[in-house]
Amino acid sequence: MSARFATSTVAVLGFGNQGRAHALNLRDAGVEVVVGARPGRGAESRARTLGFPVADPPEAARRAQVVAVLLPDEAVPAAWPALAAALAADSALVFAHGFNLLYADLALPPCGDVVLVSPTGPGSVLRRLHERGETLPAYLAVHRDGSGGAWALAAEYAEKLGCAPVLRTTVREETEVDLFGEQAVLCGGMNALVTAAFETLVARGYAPEIAYLECVHQLKHLADLLHERGVAGLRQGISGTALYGDLSRGPRVIGGPSRAAMAALLEEIRSGSFAREWAAEEAGGRRWLEAAVAGAAGHPIEQARRRALGPRPGPAEADA
Ligand SMILES: NC(=O)c1ccc[n+]([C@@H]2O[C@H](COP(=O)([O-])OP(=O)(O)OC[C@H]3O[C@@H](n4cnc5c(N)ncnc54)[C@H](OP(=O)(O)O)[C@@H]3O)[C@@H](O)[C@H]2O)c1
Repeated sequence: MSARFATSTVAVLGFGNQGRAHALNLRDAGVEVVVGARPGRGAESRARTLGFPVADPPEAARRAQVVAVLLPDEAVPAAWPALAAALAADSALVFAHGFNLLYADLALPPCGDVVLVSPTGPGSVLRRLHERGETLPAYLAVHRDGSGGAWALAAEYAEKLGCAPVLRTTVREETEVDLFGEQAVLCGGMNALVTAAFETLVARGYAPEIAYLECVHQLKHLADLLHERGVAGLRQGISGTALYGDLSRGPRVIGGPSRAAMAALLEEIRSGSFAREWAAEEAGGRRWLEAAVAGAAGHPIEQARRRALGPRPGPAEADA
């Protein structure tokens, strides 16, 4: 272990999706960890149950030389004044996403390193792979090189986290591409695509549970092929009929209007207007978001899932 990690305590602020995995993986690698969690909340008791020392986030930051900021992005600006007051001038900061480094005007320690170590997957996956001796790729970036060794700090943190290979990028690139990926494909695009396909079939009289199995449930098998083999490899694993339909029809589904929508939402990310809109929604108590989530939960696609698959467990807490 380098002198830096051998002599440093790492404060993991937040014990949610990423925080839990970072704390456990770093501890497995021999790093001394203190968890920063709000007193009396679920995260505090979950961390204590796993044997971590816990303090409220500013106190944890005060005790550490390296501080991993793993609070929800939207909670960081309000929590920051108390955290900033607790940081030493040379505290090193690790973020898992560049959102607040790019869009919020955080007061940073004047001479500390500020780096990005962003695993390319949920914390539950990072932890599961680590337990199996496998790794997850991560992006590294340096926002500020206070010590002259910020890249080395980021690389060593990633290694102890169980991330490999690592790709060097910038805070801007990581943030903009991450937001675009989740809006256009991984969350927004995927959910809108499967919902639209389901509605198209059901509106024309097809059984909802069959529409569900075909347009939603099977997606995982194809996504697994895509993950393992890439686009060309997936095409080798499907029937000739599916292959012809893919190449001749897919570009009609994601055609000119969808590409124009992608370009427009990328521009909203790059200009900062998406971040301002999200900050205003958070400041206003998430009224639109909560109504949208409640409305979507009542969509017939949820009933179709239950009818097609029977009762299933809800989302695991660690995946939340
Ligand atoms: N989720 C992912 O797949 C993923 C992937 C890569 C990077 N990231 C990045 O990782 C970072 C953490 O995201 P996450 O998804 O792990 O967050 P999360 O699961 O929502 O974790 C939130 C944690 O922070 C605590 N918390 C919430 N508000 C707080 C506050 N005001 N003060 C102190 N603690 C607070 C919560 O515990 P209590 O409510 O019990 O206090 C919980 O432990 C973000 O920068 C995110 O962009 C996430």
